Amino acid sequence: MDLKSIRSLQEELSNLIGVSGYEGDVSSLIMEIIEKEALADKAWIDSLGNVLAIKKGSNEKDRILLDAHTDEIGFMISHIENNGFLRFVPVGGWDTRILPGQAVVIRSKTGKIYHGIIGSKPPHLTTIEERQKLIEIPEMYIDVGMSSVEEVSNNNISIGVVGTLFSPFVDFPNNMIRGKAFDDRTGVNVLIHTLRLLKEVSSFNDTVLFNFAVQEEIGGRGAITGAYNLKPTLALAIENTTAADVPGINEAEIPVYIGRGPAITIADKSIITSPKVNERLVKNAELNKIPYQFKKPIYGGTDAGKIHISREGVPSSVVSVPCRYIHSPTSLLNLDDILKTVMLVKAFIVNSAKV
Ligand code: CO
Repeated sequence: MDLKSIRSLQEELSNLIGVSGYEGDVSSLIMEIIEKEALADKAWIDSLGNVLAIKKGSNEKDRILLDAHTDEIGFMISHIENNGFLRFVPVGGWDTRILPGQAVVIRSKTGKIYHGIIGSKPPHLTTIEERQKLIEIPEMYIDVGMSSVEEVSNNNISIGVVGTLFSPFVDFPNNMIRGKAFDDRTGVNVLIHTLRLLKEVSSFNDTVLFNFAVQEEIGGRGAITGAYNLKPTLALAIENTTAADVPGINEAEIPVYIGRGPAITIADKSIITSPKVNERLVKNAELNKIPYQFKKPIYGGTDAGKIHISREGVPSSVVSVPCRYIHSPTSLLNLDDILKTVMLVKAFIVNSAKV
């Protein structure tokens, strides 16, 4: 494992379109990698579309679940105008202020990619009062350069077709990368690299369960069925979290920082994480000299919110890679933070600190 392999998988995952409910392209790539590299003892796709996998340890009673979600926020076509413009509804939590003028990509029913632009009433035609108002999504449309409802339908774009904002993968200085859907293809990347590292470890105690989960952004739905099926005794959700280490934010309000390694959640809106699981994370990080930080409570929610109340309850926590401009088309993160997160997750599993 090195920054190069992390970067290349991140680019491949980021460029796929996998809006909630339509994660098929992401799941196929994950299955392909697991099967080609023989990374798991068993791997399959469940009826909701989660990729589930099992890597056996020497003890099958201690079962650690690692969960990362495959879906991303996006939009769904809700109506086609007679003149070929598309109306849409959001899927997941967008900051609607940033939408007008954005370039988008749409995945047709046959998997063909079309480019579009989110439009609204042009500034020249709006009054001063209108310009001061927030534009709502029902006032926006997508222009795909087509001029009739027939043309749109001939291109297999119909109600229910999904898309995302268009944001090509770009390298920045200092191992920083820019792209879309880092929430949570980053977690997917961490899980695949963890599987690759476990293949090299001769023996470890706990059996490791993997859920590459669908539909997190609309309420952790894949996490619910995956955890129910896999019956973990401990769990970690691997996420991407808000690094608001930018001008104008008070230090007390900054949840996590870029470049300071994986962030351990103490509490968010969906879970008070297990102190025992956090102790195992911290002791193994310290033993292996892996940097880490605590995410300041109480922002956001993750799949761990669903997993820890699965069946009779599962002690759980969340480990996140810090990311700026999350839930915008252009997220920014540091590849070294991903690498350190993989190291921490592996150290947690092997548990040399014997917590
Ligand atoms: Co997420």
